[in-house]
Amino acid sequence: MNYARILGTGGFLPARVVTNAELALKVDTSDEWIVSRTGIRERRVAGAHETTCDLAEQAARRALEAAECAATDIDLIIVATTTPDRIFPSTACLLQDRLGIHGPPAFDVQAVCTGFIYALGIAEKFIKTGSAKRALVVGAETMSRIVNWEDRSTCVLFGDGAGAVVLGASDQPGILSSHLHADGAYKDLLTVPCGVSEKPDQWRTATGQITMRGNEVFRMAVTTLDALVGETLTANGLKQEDVRWLVPHQANTRIIAATAKRLGLSMDQVIVTVDRHGNTSGASIPLAFDVAVRDGRIQRGDIVLMEGFGGGFTWGSVLLKY
Ligand code: ACO
Repeated sequence: MNYARILGTGGFLPARVVTNAELALKVDTSDEWIVSRTGIRERRVAGAHETTCDLAEQAARRALEAAECAATDIDLIIVATTTPDRIFPSTACLLQDRLGIHGPPAFDVQAVCTGFIYALGIAEKFIKTGSAKRALVVGAETMSRIVNWEDRSTCVLFGDGAGAVVLGASDQPGILSSHLHADGAYKDLLTVPCGVSEKPDQWRTATGQITMRGNEVFRMAVTTLDALVGETLTANGLKQEDVRWLVPHQANTRIIAATAKRLGLSMDQVIVTVDRHGNTSGASIPLAFDVAVRDGRIQRGDIVLMEGFGGGFTWGSVLLKY
């Protein structure tokens, strides 16, 4: 039982679709601008009473069903989110309660768009060391709650959703390696610049919304992901052509295409959902993975590279045999 293997996947999107045309009625933008710069055509937005935990619960139930795993067999829950329901308890504890699970550890991971990669890397280590046998790993976000809907440079980018996997101990590979990184020196390039302790009086004002220096984020993302791909392949003694599928964080098709080029992959080998989902931050990778598993593209035995980059900056990858 040396490996942590994905046993099942699930995804969930809120019902409400917001198209570029609808956004163009509210801010000075156009479908043409958004599609050409980002690849995004539409995104989902949660209802007023629909929370991150609501989305996480649906994705988790679908993953449990696909894995043929009873909720009570889960012995670790990790939720990657930047938009938790409450400051505390963690969204993982709220989800644990919804699923009727009592006792095993449950906690949130906050690494913004790299959150799911962090959560998967942590869960893998629990399983490899024998501390857990069945882990529920979720990425879930309601980014719409921290978007400034009057700022055209950011509001067109983000969306809401959740994705989940059930990870199980196995003697079959599995996750082959995970690579996690961060550099807080870049804290101000992409941020919601207030919180419980810093500027608490500005909570729910303009300061409580996403601000971004888009050009700089773009450049850093492309160069950092380039190095990360090399690091991941070298660590596994693999060549570019050994990778069957790239499941990137879904921020922007131009960033995704640059990473695919670095790997020598055609865009047919890249799972792209950003056109329909927008950037769902910590949810984007498990959502994209679930889409490609369910539509039959990703098959058992395929080598899959997941990679992400986000606020912090944080970045990371997971290489796995599905
Ligand atoms: N519609 C129309 N015009 C716009 C919009 C919009 N929605 N947003 C910005 N513009 C304007 C700007 O005001 C600017 O106008 P100006 O020249 O008159 O000043 C012009 O378009 C160009 O702006 P840039 O910011 O230089 O546009 P750029 O080509 O860099 O595209 C973008 C912006 C899409 C945000 C790009 O920088 C990017 O993709 N950055 C990566 C950031 C990202 O994906 N962040 C998500 C979170 S991080 C992550 O997940 C990796």
